[in-house]
Order: sequence, then C-alpha cells, then structure tokens
Amino acid sequence: MTRNELVVEGVSVTFPGGMQALRNVDLRVGAGEIVGLVGESGSGKSTLGRVVVGLQQSYSGLLQFGGETIHPRRTRQQRCAIQMVFQDPYASLDPRMTVWQLLHELMSVHGIGSGREDRRQRCEDLLRRVHLPLTMLDNRPATMSGGQRQRVAIARALAIDPQFLVADEATAALDVSVQAGIINLFADLRAMMGLSQLFISHNLAVVRSLCDRVAVIYRGEIVEMASTEAIFDAPQHDYTRQLLAAAPDLP
Ligand SMILES: Nc1ncnc2c1ncn2[C@@H]1O[C@H](COP(=O)(O)OP(=O)(O)OP(=O)(O)O)[C@@H](O)[C@H]1O
Ligand SMILES: [Mg+2]
Repeated sequence: MTRNELVVEGVSVTFPGGMQALRNVDLRVGAGEIVGLVGESGSGKSTLGRVVVGLQQSYSGLLQFGGETIHPRRTRQQRCAIQMVFQDPYASLDPRMTVWQLLHELMSVHGIGSGREDRRQRCEDLLRRVHLPLTMLDNRPATMSGGQRQRVAIARALAIDPQFLVADEATAALDVSVQAGIINLFADLRAMMGLSQLFISHNLAVVRSLCDRVAVIYRGEIVEMASTEAIFDAPQHDYTRQLLAAAPDLP
C-alpha cells in the first residue's frame, strides 16, 4: 500500500428512517490516480464522498488511507490528508473575506506556516498552483467569476497540504466555457503533486476526459468498476449501458 492510496471496504450507510444510501461498497483509489464516480441522482455518490472525507461518520465497513485504518473520529493528520471540493463555491466561501484572509485564517487554524510573511509566500504559491493572478489575494469572492471562485475553493482545499481530493460535482455549477479550465486544473494537480482524487460527476464527457478508472453506482451499490476505456467502450453492466445511452452528447 502506498502513501496516498485509499481503500474502501464493505462500506454501508443507512440513514435514520431506514434509507440505505450505500450497500457494501468496495472502492480503491491508487496513489496519484483519478477515479470517477457516476450514477443517477440519489444513487449515493455524495454520501460515499462524505464518508471518504469524514463528514459522514456513521457507517459500517472499513476505510484505509496510506495503509492506515481511518476511524470515524479522525486524527488531525487524517482530517487534513483528505479534502473536499464542493459544487458551489458561492456557498463554501465567505464572500466578505478577501482571498488572503480566507487562506490565512485556514493556515492559522491548522498551524501551517510560521508567521505572516511565510503564510503570504505560501498563499502566493497556492494561487500559482491554481493559475490565479497573485493580485487576486486582495479580492473578495463576491467580485470574482464562478471559475475564479472555484479556483479559490481549490486553493483553500490545497492550503492544508492534502494527499487526496474528493470533488463532488465541482464543475457542475460552471459555464461550459470555464469547465474545461477547472478539469485541466484537476489533471495538473495530479501531474504536479501526485494528488489522488475521487471525482464525482453527472457529466460523463468530463469523467471520460479526466479519469483513469470509473466506478458506476446504482442504488447505493457499485455495479461496475473498470478503466475509463472499458466503461465507455465495452460496458459490462446493463445499468452502465443505460447511463451511457442517456448521455447522447458523449463524443
Ligand atoms: N442526511 C440524510 N438523511 C436521510 N437521507 C439522506 C441523507 N442524505 C442523503 N440521503 C438519501 O440518500 C440517498 C443518496 O443520496 P446522495 O446525496 O448520496 O445521492 P447523490 O448520488 O449524490 O445524488 P445527486 O446526484 O442528486 O447529488 C438519497 O436517496 C438521499 O435522499
Ligand atoms: Mg450528490
């Protein structure tokens, strides 16, 4: 098992009221790998993402990261290691704070960097990594475009030096014209930092262009998991075929 490999074994989630959102899910995301998670609305994608990132603490089954078992109550280090990027940067960023304030606050909370100057340096590095101009440190999210805001949200996820990202519909709220830039950014982060990713999306074309392997989830169960080529060119499960057939704009 390598440093940033994620293993999910036999994970089930039942919500109060009896809704079984995940059934015995097995999933592995290798070091530096990007695995797509696709399935219709309500199939359990976000629930699985929330289990992986530690937001859904009530589950049965086993989680391992970097060879270590992760318990529902995570250590500080485990919490930092796996970070999430959400669909809606409007909701996940305080619009009144400048980018510098957002990032600086997070670093202070997590004890990252030694003093203001060092943190300023780190913030500039983060902006470079997400391809935003350094002058944006003094901007507020409220004055930025959707794409720029999502880059800030990604910089925020990167600020605590994670080894794994869960992206939940991270491009769904964006114009098609800016989606491609954000997709390239996820690919860059893998290439530059070896960042492993679980990439949740409704958009099969995006999944096809970005992911190494794809897991198909149906009613809380992974029905098929294979290389991206195999899923798109030779789907094995009926449900996968239906999902592909329902996406007529696939290239
Ligand atoms: N906190 C909760 N309490 C009860 N049921 C929930 C809760 N969160 C999710 N569910 C239910 O669990 C199932 C899976 O939801 P989930 O949000 O994981 O689906 P999803 O695949 O992410 O859907 P979408 O594509 O619409 O985002 C759904 O039936 C949902 O209604
Ligand atoms: Mg969801």
